Amino acid sequence: MKRRTFIKNTSLTALGLSALGMLDSYSKYFVLGNDLKVNGQRIVNRITELSKYGMDEQGHGYRVAFTRGDIEGRAWFMEQMRGAGLEPIIDAAGNIVGKRMGKNPSLKPIAFGSHIDMVPDGGNYDGPLGSISALEVIELLNENKMMTEHPLEVIIFSNEEGGTIGSMAMAGGLTKEGLQQKSQSGLTMAEGIKAIGGNPDRIESCVRKKGDLYAWLELHIEQGGILEKENLQIGVVEGIVGIVHWEVMVEGFANHAGTTPMNMRQDALLASAQFIIAVNEVINAVKGNQVGTIGKIGLTPNAYNVVPGKVVMGLEIRDLSADKIEMLFREIEKRAASIATKSKTTISFKRQANESKPALTDKTLQQAINASAKALGFSTKFMQSGAGHDSQEIAAIAPVAMIFVPSVGGISHSYKEFTKAVDVSNGANVLLHTILAIDKHKG
Ligand code: GLV
Ligand code: MN
Ligand code: MN
Repeated sequence: MKRRTFIKNTSLTALGLSALGMLDSYSKYFVLGNDLKVNGQRIVNRITELSKYGMDEQGHGYRVAFTRGDIEGRAWFMEQMRGAGLEPIIDAAGNIVGKRMGKNPSLKPIAFGSHIDMVPDGGNYDGPLGSISALEVIELLNENKMMTEHPLEVIIFSNEEGGTIGSMAMAGGLTKEGLQQKSQSGLTMAEGIKAIGGNPDRIESCVRKKGDLYAWLELHIEQGGILEKENLQIGVVEGIVGIVHWEVMVEGFANHAGTTPMNMRQDALLASAQFIIAVNEVINAVKGNQVGTIGKIGLTPNAYNVVPGKVVMGLEIRDLSADKIEMLFREIEKRAASIATKSKTTISFKRQANESKPALTDKTLQQAINASAKALGFSTKFMQSGAGHDSQEIAAIAPVAMIFVPSVGGISHSYKEFTKAVDVSNGANVLLHTILAIDKHKG
């Protein structure tokens, strides 16, 4: 076994996880003996291997939750888990869970992992980095014959990209209505969960109570360009934005495009164009990091010679403040009402189930990540996440934290997404040493 020494600037008992009701001193501690390192090449090889599942002829990824690529990728991942001595089970929400015993079975588990599903044409790092690095931590502990005090759990959440569905279920937030919502695959969440081996009829059986997990850690690519621009190695996530979706329906009247004079039209697409600009104006009119997007649109009848009669769009708003999201939506509603009157259309909104609440990460875990990164010689930055993550669901039941590594060009949700091998290793090493550091504090 490699030598590891943990030295703190205060007594051992002064270190505690505040969110677990222990002492809330944010004692700094230093990790020595950082010769224990992950096998970066093995992580990169596995990322490449996983990327083949769901890949199309152009080399683009299509591992959308509940589709063939996702099902095959999950089977591959479970095989890798078995190889690392984890006996994976699939819980009722389709989450893959693998447990490794700790020296002290009365302690609550330290859980870590991510997701392996992707958006259409998605990249190979969003989700796989944290999932495969979690597996790497287990491999490394096995190879070094190291037992942690706490039991460990590797968790791969189902359908993260479709609304953090698996983690929402684990935190007790997936409702009957949420289960009936259509997923990107075309299946409802319930049908999709069944397709990957879960059991939507017993969804409550996967729920963990507050305090069931000692901590949840997720390593992830930044998905933005801040770390790269500032030439920094590790991001310590302070908070994750809330995400709310609305289906927006604009109804006009489909009529002959040659015989209907311009001033007699009820053009749903023209009204939609004005609405899209209005959304952009409302979001930009307020100071802050909020974002609002129309990322989805469909019209009927969709023909050269017919004035568009109906448009359905997807509106998304994100911010760290739930109140701000509501305020922005009320402004958007007002603008919609005025556009509808002028264009002789109706504009209605249907709020979608499965919204993600904003979440703050645990301050003590943030410090543990920062200390581990610094001890490994990395530069760090405390930052917020503009992307949604399973961590924000789990924050309702456990102290959570996230480690970010740079995304080349700030590109994500794209097949061009890339993170350098060195950053992959750096992030996985910080994950490993954070787990080992927090393991030393009983509770
Ligand atoms: C998930 O990746 C999201 O931010 O939409
Ligand atoms: Mn992700
Ligand atoms: Mn994503």
